[in-house]
Amino acid sequence: RLLGAVGAAGATGLVLGAAGGAAAHAATSGDAPTALTTVGSATVAFHGEHQSGITTPLQARGHLIAFDLAPGAGHREAAALMRRWSTLAAELMAGRAAGDGDTGVALDAGPSSLTITFGFGRTFFDRTGLVTQRPAELDPLPAFSSDQLDDRRSNGDLWVQIGSDDALVAFHALRAIQKAAGEAARVRWQMNGFNRSPGATGRPMTARNLMGQVDGTRNPKPSEADFDRRIFVPSGTKYAWLAGGSYAVVRRIRMLLDDWEKLSPTKQERVIGRRKSDGAPLTGGTETTELALDRTGPDGKLVIPDNAHARISAPEQNGGAAMLRRPFSFHDGIDPDGTPDAGLLFVCWQADPLRGFVPVQRKLDRGDALSPFIRHEASGLFAVPGGPKKGEYVGQRLLE
Ligand code: HEM
Repeated sequence: RLLGAVGAAGATGLVLGAAGGAAAHAATSGDAPTALTTVGSATVAFHGEHQSGITTPLQARGHLIAFDLAPGAGHREAAALMRRWSTLAAELMAGRAAGDGDTGVALDAGPSSLTITFGFGRTFFDRTGLVTQRPAELDPLPAFSSDQLDDRRSNGDLWVQIGSDDALVAFHALRAIQKAAGEAARVRWQMNGFNRSPGATGRPMTARNLMGQVDGTRNPKPSEADFDRRIFVPSGTKYAWLAGGSYAVVRRIRMLLDDWEKLSPTKQERVIGRRKSDGAPLTGGTETTELALDRTGPDGKLVIPDNAHARISAPEQNGGAAMLRRPFSFHDGIDPDGTPDAGLLFVCWQADPLRGFVPVQRKLDRGDALSPFIRHEASGLFAVPGGPKKGEYVGQRLLE
């Protein structure tokens, strides 16, 4: 597949460099070729200590897809599948075609920061006879009082997260991954999400969700000293195959937008504890100013209410529990009664779900001001192995 045409000497050096040296050729000998924009040419590495799609900046388009191994498929088939998928992911992420049967959907475009991330659900270990290699962290998440989970859209033996800044590139990868599953695995559920397109804001900014809030401000940053400890499973862990990996908690959270949008902006801000316009705390400053959780107003009441989402979810209120939230918004149309089927494909990453998602969700479940406006409809927990070395496939350290 073409990664964009080669322009005049010099002009393309940058583009091809950014594309990681993937093959590119003049589109036609006659036409003046056009270089890809930086969006198209941006490439994320497939190999490395961690899988891609965890610390990669949010992409504009996302697909989540879960599979169950087919009846009769076990360890051998799973290993062959992970090898197939890994080869495919490396090709697609470098901007190349998906082999002979390529659909052509992504022709003309670059990988546009395509990432393909693979995880294993709890049941994967039963199906492959690898229960002794299953970490306790994959035990089912506790039930929460506000859960309204649909089992058919939850969990799964295998999970794949696809992200790209181009919708066609992302769809192309989704189809290729599904087809490469072949006879080994069947789709259990699939969800589609989106975020803002790169370049849509005048300068890089934290994303907004479909409630209009600036969302992602207080995420741990890779530059912070304790980032790796919070997000990635350390080497020396009991299950060596998971070193450099992480746990992904996935929740399809419907937003009850009709109810939410009836609230005045002031009430909406009190639900979160931050200003809607710029994400700054209600106690003042800018988006990055610390929340002054103890500050009271002239009426003697806390400025950031007791049940404000940003207060309850803060690590300081949860014994340090932290996670990297990396969601996509979703909109799956409008129900017959006019209600939008929209919300957040909440994906969060942590070294241990019992020190990340679980304690925070427990606390939110007990009294988050946001609860009346959301509904958790599906859930998944997946162990995401570390990144593959050159020549290795994802999960090889577990499956070989
Ligand atoms: C912070 C929205 C669900 C955990 C925030 C913020 C917003 C927000 C606007 C403040 C800005 C920021 O720091 O990012 C939402 C919405 C949700 C949702 C709309 C559902 C649709 C959840 C869930 C969890 C969670 C399910 C975890 C169980 C957090 C955490 C923070 C946060 C950890 C940062 C707190 C801090 O570090 O101070 N959320 N959230 N959120 N949220 Fe949520």
